[in-house]
This record gives sequence, C-alpha cells and structure tokens, in this order.
Amino acid sequence: MPGFKKTILVCLLLLSACSYLPNEPATENISIGFSQLTSNDLWRQTMNAEFERFALLYPEVNLEIRDANDVSAQQIKDIEYFINQNVDVLIVSPKEADLLTPVVEKAYKLGIPVILVDRKTSSDAYTTYIGGDNVEIGRQAGNYAKYLLNGSGRILEIYGTKTSSPAQERHKGFIEQFAEDERFEIIDGGDGQWFGKSAEKVIREVFEEDQAFDLVYAHNDVMAEAAFLVASELGIEDEMFFIGIDALPGKEGGAQMVKDGKLDATLRYLTGGRVAIETAIAIANGDSVPRNITLKTALINSENVEIYQNEEERIQEQQKILEQQQQAITDQLLKFENQRLLLTLIFTLLVGAILILLFLIRASRAKRKINSELKSTNNHLNRMVETNNEINSVIGHDIKTPINSTLAIAELMADSLNDDEPIDKEELQNFSSIIQVSIKSISDLTNDLFNWSRIQAGDLKLRKEHFKISEIVDPTVDLFETMTSFKSITIETIYENDFEIYADKHIVATIVRNFLSNALKFSSKGDTIYLTCEEINDGWSISVKDEGVGMTEEVQQKLFHKEFHPSKVGTKKEVGTGLGLRLSKKMADLHQASIEVKSILGKGSTFTFKVPNTV
Ligand code: FRU
Repeated sequence: MPGFKKTILVCLLLLSACSYLPNEPATENISIGFSQLTSNDLWRQTMNAEFERFALLYPEVNLEIRDANDVSAQQIKDIEYFINQNVDVLIVSPKEADLLTPVVEKAYKLGIPVILVDRKTSSDAYTTYIGGDNVEIGRQAGNYAKYLLNGSGRILEIYGTKTSSPAQERHKGFIEQFAEDERFEIIDGGDGQWFGKSAEKVIREVFEEDQAFDLVYAHNDVMAEAAFLVASELGIEDEMFFIGIDALPGKEGGAQMVKDGKLDATLRYLTGGRVAIETAIAIANGDSVPRNITLKTALINSENVEIYQNEEERIQEQQKILEQQQQAITDQLLKFENQRLLLTLIFTLLVGAILILLFLIRASRAKRKINSELKSTNNHLNRMVETNNEINSVIGHDIKTPINSTLAIAELMADSLNDDEPIDKEELQNFSSIIQVSIKSISDLTNDLFNWSRIQAGDLKLRKEHFKISEIVDPTVDLFETMTSFKSITIETIYENDFEIYADKHIVATIVRNFLSNALKFSSKGDTIYLTCEEINDGWSISVKDEGVGMTEEVQQKLFHKEFHPSKVGTKKEVGTGLGLRLSKKMADLHQASIEVKSILGKGSTFTFKVPNTV
C-alpha cells in the first residue's frame, strides 16, 4: 500500500520538523573552573557573587567555584581537580605566587586556557591576567601619602601576604614615590596577611615599640581599619593618616570607612568578575584576548566619597534592574521551552494517533478484503456444491433413463439373436430411433451439465458476433429430426425474414435446443411445434410454442427456481430435473436478455427468448 507508506513518511517528516520549532540558538556548553583562594572576606565574597551573577547571564556557561580556604595546598588540589575535569577555561586567583606556579603551569601546558585574576603566579605560563594594576595603585597611594604628609613623615607599611603578588606590587609602586627622598621614612609593619585580625596583631606589636608614625599605609582596607582601631584604642588616631586599598562599596566597605573618618583614603580595586566571565567565554569561543586586562582604579577620599557612593548605589540599582530583567527573560525562556516541549509532545501524540488511525483503517480494510474474499470463496464453494448436486441428480435421474432404455434395447436385440423369431425391420427401425433419441438426450444433458458447471464457476464468457439467425436455428432444429419422427411431431420454423443478429452463438443454440427439447417432451403424437424468429420493437426474439400439456400458473412461477424439480414426465415418459430451462435462464441473464413463459394447462406453452438490440 504505497499510500500508507507515503503517509508514514509525511508524518515522520512532520515529526522531525517539530524539532525545528523555534528554539534558542544552539551553543556549545562552556565549563569554567574558578579556583578561589578564600571566601572568608567581603572582597572575595563580592568577587564570587559577581562571577555567579554574570555566569547566569550566559546559559551556556557551567561555572564551578572551588574555595581553598586560604590554604595554598588546598588550592593546588582544587586546580588539579579542574585539570582532571578538563575544564574549557581555568580561572585562578592564586594565594601565593611561587607555591601555585607549578600547578598553574601544568594546566596551561596541558592546553587549558588559564586566566589569572587579581593575583599572579611567578611564571608567564598563563593566557591572560585580569586585575587592577597593583604597582600603579601603590604609586597612587604613595603620591597621595606624600601629599598628605606635606613634605616629610614616617610611614608604617602593613603588608598583605608577602608571598602574594599584590602585596609585592603595592609595595613596589608605593616606595617608588619616595625613592632617595630622605625626608620620608617607610617602616615595614609586617605581614598582615590581608585580614583585619592578623593585621591587628602585628600592628599592636609595632605600636608597643613605636607609635611615632604620621601615616599608616595598609595593602587593603580591612588592615588599614585595624590600624585605625588600634590607634584609636591608644588615642593616637588623630596623629596619623590612614590609607587602605579596595574601596568596596556598601556599609562594610572601604568607602564607608572613609566616610566614617576611619580612613583618609582608599584606592578602588575592582574584583573583575564580569570581565573574567566574558573573557573566559571569548577564549572558549576561540576569540583572541589581550594578555593583560587592567581594571581601572580611583582614589577615594573625603572629598569624593559621597559622589562615589552615590554612583556605586546607582550602579547597584541598575544592576538589580538588569538582573530582574534577566530573570524575567530567563523565566520567559523557560516558559517558552516548556511550551515548545508541550507542543512537541502534542505534535508527537497527534502523529502517533494518525499513525494508529491509519493502521486501524488499513487493518479494517484488510479485514474487509479478507471477509469479502472469504464470502466469494464461500459462494463459489456453495455454487460448486450446488453444481455437484445438480450433476448427481441429473446423472441419477435424467441420464439414467435414456441409458437404461438404450441398455434395454441392446438386451432385446441380443436376446432376439438367440430367439427363433428374429426382429423385423420395422421393429429394428423403432429400436434404432429409441437409441438415437436416447443418445441425443444423453448428449444434450451432457452439454447442459457442462455449460451449467461453467456458468456456476463463472467460466462461461459472452462471445458475441454477427450472424444470420437461421445459421443457428436451422441446425439446432435438425438435431431433433429423429426425435420428432419418433414422436410423430412436426417442428415448423417461421422466419419473417432471415435477419442478422449480434449474439453469442453457443448461448442462442443452447436456449433453442432446450426450448425444443422441452416442447417435444410435452407434445403428443401429431402435434406441431412452432419456432418463430422475429424482429420485435427494439430487438429480436425466438419463441417455441407447443400444443402439449401446458402448465398451471403455479408451475410457471416456480419454473426457474433451483428447488423446483418438475414432477411431470413427458408424453413418452421422459423425465427431467428442469436443468435445461434453468440453464437457459442463466444464459439469457448472461446475455442480458429475458425468457418469457406463457402457458395454458392442457393447451400448450410458449417459451420466448427476447434479446434487446442495445446489448
Ligand atoms: C581579598 C584581598 C583584597 C585585596 C586582594 C589582593 O582577599 O585581600 O582585600 O585587595 O585580596 O589580592
């Protein structure tokens, strides 16, 4: 069933088209591993939050942050983990330059792009560095310190972890400003390790020995604040300036410390989360990125702190709006995706339902076909059984009689050979006629049986041709010569004219033969049978009229029914199953012609075969 296959194909195409329903542009996932040295201070927490916030803006980004808890050994393990994960981009903010260098180099040499943020390693084996310029920040701090000290002074420098790159660079930039200037003295206040608590400890130790400082320069705000608090405890906070670095916005941040008068200045040190995520995506997409991305810095003091805070607040608000919008977009996308899934599901179900429907239709068609085949086989079988019964009954009934009479005559003839009185000529003639009539009727019956089984099996096909009507009628009448003389019956053939017909010769001959045979059967000695061929209104007809016994109305009605077996025997005791007339009716039907019967009991019957011209 090619149509069915075509429909399945169309359904499958529609189904596959379904996967082309509007979808988000297909992007490869990008895995980013971020090794954070610690998350124990506000600056790092701000940094992590920024990473996460911006990673969320890019659905293709899978960001994993690992916190080393300010332990270099742990950070090495974290980086090893990311190497094993074969992340697309590795971001590291290394706690200590030297200690972290080998593992970062390893990742880089394995082909993993490495972004260093805020802090550096001691090697060049990295893809890009993102962070503030710590040397420059140191310079600006030095510059401002110089300005505050107004010509001379003693400076206490509190370091961030000395083995970390920002501490080294912030120191480097700062002292550059005082190089070979003997009016200024810079005292190493020790390693505050970037935390307020650890810085407080070293500052106390310093102040126990020496308090004569004009300025405290700490490498970040929390350490500068610790110095201010210790100085306040000692009541010497007004005798010195305090400079820190970071300038985080917010209540806990360095800007607020300036506003609160704790610090005299702080330098903005951006966390760089947004830039780091954007750079990682660019690298993963194969774009080239600069080797160094320097984040801007700015000095915040009492004069500009308010503007800075307002500006920061505005930025935060905008950021919030942006995030809300992003959230709305994400929600919308999610809704859209759900709708798309639903649509795909509905579509799939629909296609499935269509396929099932088609399958059912096909199955029911096949069933109907099988049923009709079964029915026709059944009909065929029934017809065969019927034919078989017919044959049995004809053999048992119609054929037996002429055979028996032929046999009886043969026996008589044989006996007469042994008799003293041989058969005379007249008797012999009579015997010969009986034999001929019997053989003729056996031959007719055999023909009828043959035709009957062919008709029942649907084997008998119409074969029409043009011929003169006498061509078939005359030879058929001739066949009855012996029989007519045996019964002293005359057949009178009447042609108005010998017209041409278009018909099946075999069918016409069989019908005429059966009409005559029937007429002869019921005609008595001296009767005449009239066979009339005539052109009628829009066709032609052949009728056979006898002067025989005729039939009742009831018999006429049943004449062609298959259950009907005429009980009447012929005038010479001929028997019959009525097969000849039923065969004639079937043949007439095949020829789309009709058979009409007119009969009056005791007066005779007329059988007419009427053929319309149109067929
Ligand atoms: C946070 C911090 C910052 C400082 C930076 C230097 O952990 O100490 O305060 O600016 O690290 O790496």
